[in-house]
Amino acid sequence: MSTTLKSLRALSDPTRLRIVALLERDELSVNELQEITRLGQSRISTHLGLLADCALVQSRRDGKRTFYKLNEHAEAATREFIQLAIRGAKELPEHSGDQINLKRVLTRRREQAQVYFNQIAGRFDRVYGPGRSWQAFGHLLLRILPSLVVADLGAGEGLLSELLARRCKKVIAVDNSEKIVAFGKAKAKRNGLKNLEFRQGDLQNPPIDANSVDLVILSQALHHAENPAAAIAAAHTILKSGGQILILDLLKHNFERAHELYGDRWPGFPESDLHRWVENAGFKKIEISVVAREEQPPHFQTILASGEKH
Ligand SMILES: C[S@@+](CC[C@H](N)C(=O)[O-])C[C@H]1O[C@@H](n2cnc3c(N)ncnc32)[C@H](O)[C@@H]1O
Repeated sequence: MSTTLKSLRALSDPTRLRIVALLERDELSVNELQEITRLGQSRISTHLGLLADCALVQSRRDGKRTFYKLNEHAEAATREFIQLAIRGAKELPEHSGDQINLKRVLTRRREQAQVYFNQIAGRFDRVYGPGRSWQAFGHLLLRILPSLVVADLGAGEGLLSELLARRCKKVIAVDNSEKIVAFGKAKAKRNGLKNLEFRQGDLQNPPIDANSVDLVILSQALHHAENPAAAIAAAHTILKSGGQILILDLLKHNFERAHELYGDRWPGFPESDLHRWVENAGFKKIEISVVAREEQPPHFQTILASGEKH
């Protein structure tokens, strides 16, 4: 039988006209169609099967449910049939009841989607949400970073350096541990990051030319330096004019075991010390604030300090 005849036959039944008209607004599951039309499930499924055979509707599976909608990719002739069917359905006595029921079902669906978010409102940042992670947010924020030359001082194995290298022009990762530098180098090579260069050296006298980088990062590294003020002054030296320093470190704490557990030389820093060192090094537009507090004892707090070289 020709496609035209098949479509005409499919649309010769008032129930199928009702179904086509109901799918005009949104996709619907078999259960929802059943609730709206008050027809049995097997009848609905048979009608949907016939409509799908003529490419008037299409379906998608979502777990155990199947959703139907008007065929988005229908050819011109089929689209005309769909429009005719919708016009025809409007003349049926069931039409206004169908539309009222459809509205109710769609409203309930929207409300159900909101129930979860209403429940977690006010705790949003503390509950698990699939796909929401600081790592993903980090990648998002990277997209707004211009193509910079970055020095990551006390870089470790390059957790941050690797992330930055995916966006920046060049990243120079400096660490004084021979083993860590070797490991970081090998990892960067494995990951194909040709613009990430590891150099062994001290963050108080980094092996980087003066006035050569746009951004210096000291992430949880300063509290390992013998002379933190000297490290900040060295950062100023290697920065180009207009360049920026970003320091992430611990706010002064009383957790004495940090020395033995993490090899920390300093128990974090008071904001006032950081501010003074950054200012004395010659930075302007200084901003310092606590940006994170750990939930578990000893509740380490992270400070973010920044300044610009002029
Ligand atoms: C806590 S890790 C931080 C790693 C990385 N910046 C991060 O945020 O994941 C501190 C790193 O600083 C390095 N480090 C300690 N003292 C240093 C110094 N004087 N000069 C250069 N690197 C140093 C250590 O080898 C270690 O890899």
